[in-house]
Amino acid sequence: MLEGTKIGSPPQMASIFDIAKDTLLFLLLSCYYILESLFWTLVPNALRPMKSLKGDVVLVTGGGGGVGRQLAIKLARLGAKVVVWDINKGGSEKILVTISRQSSEGLAYENNGSLGAAARLSRRPSFTLHKTCVAAFQEGYNIASYVVDLADREAVYAAAQKVKNEIGKVDVLINNAGTVFGETLLDLNDSAIETTYKVNILSHYWTVKAFLPDMIKTKKGHIVTVGSVAGLLGTYRCTDYSATKFATVGFHESLFTELRAHGHNYIHATLVCPYYINTGMFDGVTPRLMPMLEPENVADAMINSIRKNEVNCIMPASVRYLLPLKCLLPAKMCWDLMHRVMKGPQSMMQFKGKPKVAGG
Ligand SMILES: NC(=O)c1ccc[n+]([C@@H]2O[C@H](COP(=O)([O-])OP(=O)(O)OC[C@H]3O[C@@H](n4cnc5c(N)ncnc54)[C@H](O)[C@@H]3O)[C@@H](O)[C@H]2O)c1
Repeated sequence: MLEGTKIGSPPQMASIFDIAKDTLLFLLLSCYYILESLFWTLVPNALRPMKSLKGDVVLVTGGGGGVGRQLAIKLARLGAKVVVWDINKGGSEKILVTISRQSSEGLAYENNGSLGAAARLSRRPSFTLHKTCVAAFQEGYNIASYVVDLADREAVYAAAQKVKNEIGKVDVLINNAGTVFGETLLDLNDSAIETTYKVNILSHYWTVKAFLPDMIKTKKGHIVTVGSVAGLLGTYRCTDYSATKFATVGFHESLFTELRAHGHNYIHATLVCPYYINTGMFDGVTPRLMPMLEPENVADAMINSIRKNEVNCIMPASVRYLLPLKCLLPAKMCWDLMHRVMKGPQSMMQFKGKPKVAGG
């Protein structure tokens, strides 16, 4: 239950006087909000107060690779207690790696020797969670990592309980994991569509339901939703991916209104919408106008955004100025801009993507 102190009572038939009074107050506050936003845009990060994440438990889903791995390492450097989740054949109900312990070999695993088999099955260059833990360990940080298939609701709830028991309350939840198949609608098989929905959006419901109540209890928390520019503009060969990323926007915005409407202003929510990132997720794609973003820079920008308690983080920022055009311009003009100038669909035709990891 969200409970909390609800803002006001449901609107009754308002008098003209009430509407005028509320509108005037809104206009006055808007001047303040615009000036505040301009001010903070001009102040460099080094000079502005940023939330410290030291000692906070930060859970990163999809922390085994790409942006998630960068986030995990960078958050550990800031003194956060980092927990990463990722998929592996070892089985979602089995916690393959519990909190890493310093030992003569580095990390201690509790996988009964199935690590090698899992790594072979993954067809990835190496076992991804292991790589994240080792990278952090080499810098002197311990990261707790759990094998979880986010497409499996019960596994997500079970892993959430394990994290609470073994590590403690999660302060910052970063729903980062994502998957893409990159096929046109008629070539997408039904199970691929279902997997995309389960990983890219449904898992957000399970993780937030698992961790939000403790955030409310302790009056501290931050929920980060990783969407995509493909969740702001429909993308070729992404009927499933784009749709789930549009859903992340609705999820974040609705959750934000629920938190604020119930007076939980101390719980922050950030939506991150990056353009293509050079992680291999969209391997083969060659965007025409802008180069792909680098995962290190995306992770830095995300962490800064979290530390500033920003509600929206679109990368690169220039994209936010293009978005209103899609509502303002005639549809034919938008399509012409998309395929003639930006060559968006043509570049997605080169999509190769990454091999998929089998879930537990
Ligand atoms: N790469 C891009 O161009 C791009 C652009 C915009 C947004 N994004 C989004 O950013 C986020 C991170 O993307 P990335 O580029 O780092 O991708 P990535 O493929 O490098 O990493 C995603 C991670 O999620 C994990 N994962 C996938 N399915 C899982 C499951 N069922 N259970 C648990 N873990 C699972 C993968 O194993 C992987 O480690 C994703 O949400 C993605 O949709 C990516």
